[in-house]
Amino acid sequence: MSRPDLFDEIIECLKMQALDSPDTCLSPEVRREFYADVAKPAPPPAHSRRTMSPGCAPQRFSAPPRRSPADSAPHVCSAAPDSAPPAGGKDPRNMSWRELAAAVASCRGCKLCRTRTNTVFGDGNVRAELMFLGEAPGADEDLQGLPFVGRAGELLTRMIGAMQFNRAEVFIANTVKCRPPNNRNPEPDETEACRPFIMRQIELIRPKVIVMLGAVPLRLLFPEVRAGITRIRGSWMDYHGIKVMPTFHPAYLLRNPAAKADVWKDLQLVMAVFGKKHVPGRRA
Ligand code: URA
Repeated sequence: MSRPDLFDEIIECLKMQALDSPDTCLSPEVRREFYADVAKPAPPPAHSRRTMSPGCAPQRFSAPPRRSPADSAPHVCSAAPDSAPPAGGKDPRNMSWRELAAAVASCRGCKLCRTRTNTVFGDGNVRAELMFLGEAPGADEDLQGLPFVGRAGELLTRMIGAMQFNRAEVFIANTVKCRPPNNRNPEPDETEACRPFIMRQIELIRPKVIVMLGAVPLRLLFPEVRAGITRIRGSWMDYHGIKVMPTFHPAYLLRNPAAKADVWKDLQLVMAVFGKKHVPGRRA
């Protein structure tokens, strides 16, 4: 392993360890050096957070080791998918962030594990006040192991910028962590298999606001709601005390640019929660 690879791996380990065991982390000096590449810590939000000691936790989480496209063949599951809890049977509801990431990385809870290259755990600030919840990884995300890095991702990045945030400040995740073949919508058994993961991510991050992108996360978080995304977008919903704004998915906007005006209205409602206001003429 070359030196940069080794350092990257050590740094990744330290980040994960600090997330998992905030009490055993590094001295401020060493931490500063190690986390020099990590986004500047945001002031801790007023509302309740997970129990991290303030100076201790790194802000940004990158997913665990990814398979590269050079690993060639897609990951093939030798064992049949099953509905047993992942990670040796530990309930995701009791998992630390690190355990959750590892459980997702090795999950074979549904048939999507047979065709994925990488799982896509999520990306961004684990202490984010603003979270975006998409549908499922596409081809680019599957290859890179990161959410929203394709065309829809470029648009989402611009939307986040227009909201006066950046990607390192927010957390971006998907309802389903593996790519459905041919980008079809995830099937009910697949969203169900992934449900404990996203539930736990939301619980650990405890964002102030979740922006729900499209119908798939709507069905997951609010299965009792019969209305579709077109009807429901733009009205605040409540998920266990977290404000949720449903809006159209960026991929839909790529196909229907006229709907961008609606989404922009929705996003401005979210911005207002954070005391941000669109200034006409200001470029994101
Ligand atoms: N669409 C999604 O819903 N998620 C991604 O990560 C990419 C595209």
